[in-house]
Amino acid sequence: MDYLSEIEGKQAHDPMFLEKMKESSSSSSSCLCVPGPVIVGAGPSGLATAACLKEKGVPSVILERSNCMASLWQLKTYDRLRLHLPKQFCELPLMGFPTGFPTYPSKQQFVDYLEAYARKFDIKPRFNETVSQAEYDPTLGFWRVTSVGVKGKEMEYVCRWLVVATGENAEAMMPEMEGMGEFSGDIRHTSLYKSGEEFRGKRVLVVGCGNSGMEVCLDLCNHNARPSLVVRDTVHVLPQEMLGTSTFGLSMWLLKWFPLRLVDRFLLIVSWLMLGDTSRFGLARPHLGPLQLKNLSGKTPVLDVGTLAKIKSGDIKVRPSIKSLKRHAVEFVNGTTENFDAIILATGYKSNVPSWLKEKVMFSEKDGYPRRPFPNGWKGEYGLYAVGFTKRGLLGTSMDAIRIAEDIQRCWKEEAKHRLAFTNSLLHQSSSL
Ligand SMILES: Cc1cc2nc3c(=O)[nH]c(=O)nc-3n(C[C@H](O)[C@H](O)[C@H](O)COP(=O)(O)OP(=O)(O)OC[C@H]3O[C@@H](n4cnc5c(N)ncnc54)[C@H](O)[C@@H]3O)c2cc1C
Ligand SMILES: NC(=O)c1ccc[n+]([C@@H]2O[C@H](COP(=O)([O-])OP(=O)(O)OC[C@H]3O[C@@H](n4cnc5c(N)ncnc54)[C@H](OP(=O)(O)O)[C@@H]3O)[C@@H](O)[C@H]2O)c1
Repeated sequence: MDYLSEIEGKQAHDPMFLEKMKESSSSSSSCLCVPGPVIVGAGPSGLATAACLKEKGVPSVILERSNCMASLWQLKTYDRLRLHLPKQFCELPLMGFPTGFPTYPSKQQFVDYLEAYARKFDIKPRFNETVSQAEYDPTLGFWRVTSVGVKGKEMEYVCRWLVVATGENAEAMMPEMEGMGEFSGDIRHTSLYKSGEEFRGKRVLVVGCGNSGMEVCLDLCNHNARPSLVVRDTVHVLPQEMLGTSTFGLSMWLLKWFPLRLVDRFLLIVSWLMLGDTSRFGLARPHLGPLQLKNLSGKTPVLDVGTLAKIKSGDIKVRPSIKSLKRHAVEFVNGTTENFDAIILATGYKSNVPSWLKEKVMFSEKDGYPRRPFPNGWKGEYGLYAVGFTKRGLLGTSMDAIRIAEDIQRCWKEEAKHRLAFTNSLLHQSSSL
């Protein structure tokens, strides 16, 4: 019997639980009291937290809105995707990548790894359950988490701990553009882009020059499409590797010895030597260095995997911001107009936490991130936690998951003592009757 069916069975025969629920619940949804934490989201962050908890003897329940784990990776990313950072920076706690994996594993390898990870720790998320609301109930001293299934069936989970693992990329960012309804070609976000194959021979405008926009442009080029890239602001483009090692790994190592500004200066000099002056190709650099900018604003530098060479050769054209869309054309802010067959929005993602979590202290309503900056954003009040909101990718996920599991285990142990004492006193009372 699985963990939840067992709890369901016990609850159905527990008069104290039934009475308590009748008192405090007004809704008609089914209700389940979960002894351990409820984790919302079965991406790498949710899986890592469940594994760390499991290792400490704390059972948990994961609720996932889609029909698979790591849905961002499986359903919303393009075919050519590989991890940008070397594998040692992307491993989850307690289980490394298989030794045969390349330095930059492919999307499929990463998904295989996550599935093996879930198998190893016997993690079985509850799929097709979208959390629509979660709220702390001060009378009960528990969180009430409501999920909606595919057929609209509502379920309420009551738990002592709630772990938010819905990710920084939960929803696509869709910019408003004048004339959007008029454009006759395909307009889609990168989360729905799979391959340049279907754009062969077409004029495609890619909007946004983050890592997604740059890679999609390269993919389009490799499939003989004709891409142009909208760059509305400054951007740091760094080589993926420098001096024979990954730029990320090198930066981490240098930061152990040198101040951030000096490391930034070093990165910019080497990038200039390797890539040249990127502003000559329409990619002007910000005034702040790449690491300083990342720390202050969370803006990730682009790690170049070959796109810059295509920009230099003219295979990818750089364009300014869009003013408006026409039926077959796009007008740019510099007054020029060009025809396009399709537009791909590489305009990024946002957190969806404010849409379902009824809590205003830990999470900002504005951007759906914890208000306290890294490394202090993982813990809130009343058993609320956040994993994977550090703007530091999978490395941040691992750090959060380990801390959260340690913290919950401490309370779990304390409460286990009380539970045991309570049960013993009941046994004592009944035997002396
Ligand atoms: C194209 C792309 C490439 C990337 N490459 C890298 C990389 O190489 N290295 C790196 O470190 N990072 C990378 N990232 C960042 C990436 O976000 C993290 O690697 C990782 O996916 C974060 O894991 P997560 O579990 O926090 O979030 P996610 O992977 O987004 O998982 C969150 C899960 O929560 C579920 N969910 C959301 N809302 C609800 C709800 N209301 N109810 C129930 N379930 C819900 C989602 O369906 C999803 O399955 C990349 C991101 C993108 C978009
Ligand atoms: N292989 C990999 O590992 C890989 C690949 C892809 C993505 N990723 C990661 O996934 C995350 C998301 O990346 P992303 O590239 O999808 O999003 P992103 O980093 O948020 O970049 C979005 C880009 O779109 C621009 N933009 C937004 N609205 C715009 C508009 N209306 N007009 C013009 N430009 C607009 C932004 O410009 P401003 O900066 O001016 O706002 C920014 O350049 C990042 O953490 C990234 O590192 C990793």
